[in-house]
Amino acid sequence: MFNLVKGTHDIILNEADKYTYVEQTLIQFAEFYNFKEFRTPIIESSDLFQRSVGDSSDIVRKEMYTFLDKGDRSITLRPEITAGIIRSIVNNKLLALGDYPVKAYYVGPCFRYERPQQGRYRQFNQFGIEIAGVTSPYRDVEAISFGYFALKLLGFENLKLKINSLGDDESRKNYREALNKYFASYVDQMCDDCKERYKLNVLRILDCKIKEDQEIIKNAPKISDYLTDKSKDYFQKVLNSLDELGIEYEIDDGLVRGLDYYSDVVFEFHYTSSKGLSYGALGAGGHYNKLIGEIGGPKDCEGCGLAMGIERLVSVMEDDGLFSNIDDGIDCYIMPLSQEFQPNALNILSLLRLNGFKSEVSLEGKSLKAMFKKALKLNAKFALIIGEDEIKTNSIICKNLSNQEQESILIEDLVRYLDSQIDAEEEHHHECCCHDHNESDKDCCCHAHDDEGKHCCHNQNEDHECCREKKGN
Ligand code: HAM
Repeated sequence: MFNLVKGTHDIILNEADKYTYVEQTLIQFAEFYNFKEFRTPIIESSDLFQRSVGDSSDIVRKEMYTFLDKGDRSITLRPEITAGIIRSIVNNKLLALGDYPVKAYYVGPCFRYERPQQGRYRQFNQFGIEIAGVTSPYRDVEAISFGYFALKLLGFENLKLKINSLGDDESRKNYREALNKYFASYVDQMCDDCKERYKLNVLRILDCKIKEDQEIIKNAPKISDYLTDKSKDYFQKVLNSLDELGIEYEIDDGLVRGLDYYSDVVFEFHYTSSKGLSYGALGAGGHYNKLIGEIGGPKDCEGCGLAMGIERLVSVMEDDGLFSNIDDGIDCYIMPLSQEFQPNALNILSLLRLNGFKSEVSLEGKSLKAMFKKALKLNAKFALIIGEDEIKTNSIICKNLSNQEQESILIEDLVRYLDSQIDAEEEHHHECCCHDHNESDKDCCCHAHDDEGKHCCHNQNEDHECCREKKGN
């Protein structure tokens, strides 16, 4: 037995279905926003992250998995994906013709040597988007609104969007000077990390989580007092547009983000599960005005983006029962009554699979009772039984496991028969009140919650019948 490496975890079986569901939902939504998929390497040159995420960030100073390869090159397992995406956009000259913007989405593993705790792993997965070639504050709004509506689509209500502006270079220069002055008289009493941060980049002190230091940080100057008119105007345009879109936010002037490449708008999505658990930010991002130029792209080219932690999304969605719509069952379970019928079972299995029915077969010589038990465990819609009579008549017994009705069906009619049964089943659901609209006449009942916060489908309607059973109007 080998133990997992600390801070890593297996994503298997039903858990993996949940990851796929979350990733697919985000990918499909990103396609609506006209983002294109980018797959970049997990290993990059270490200096890419030193340059972009920044030498003064905790990520570069303490958390990177860096090693020398056999050719003595310093390589790092990516701690985040933005830098690799921008490197790829620049290397592939996608901005060279000034055909802005380039819109990328990505999903994959990241690595940070952090102290493992709830929602914090050493290997974790991110989904994210980047917009390279931003020339309007409304592109920032596009990125923020993508994150907001994508999280809504996954079922998150009562999201908290925290937003702030770090301003342009001049705003931050003035702000840094003010912070340097302020912290000069406190830095000796602060933690060793903050002493280091004071020398490297005083802004990073604002990220310190140590209680005693936070007391000092509380009274530090605020960035909002140092924004230039241009930055104020940019930020206001973003806020006005969020208002127009009905996206609620909270301005948090302590939000500075831990990566060095940000300028102007930065944001984080927070959420507390119904169990009262919070796993840190579900997703976060912001604008970057220098990153593209620093990685070798056009000097004046700006960008913005965001990334979400899939582990955190899945944990909160599990807590809040937001995976009820994942169908992990199969269509057919084939049950040969004797081992000698296995070849026939395999032929039928192939026919079904090639016709789009998710199917499994019993080849372990189990009893009929044990096979039925397995069919239920697999959440099969139909049990298909093959015995001697069926072989002789080239037929199969189809038992519908939801209503327990069974019929003998000729193999040549099997696909048509199963299609019609499944259609009839779906027809029933279409008439069901679940597909109707609720009182507000806006939300589909399926996606709404009742007064007690329970999912409507599993609740009772006014007549005290189950919503699912009631036929439309
Ligand atoms: P970040 O805030 O470092 O930003 O990470 C984004 C998200 O990844 C976090 O909100 C969190 O959900 C998840 N995450 C981060 N660290 C861990 C961890 N150790 N375990 C589990 N989940 C984690 C970035 O990475 C930026 N690249 C975002 C961005 C994109 N900014 C502009 N474009």
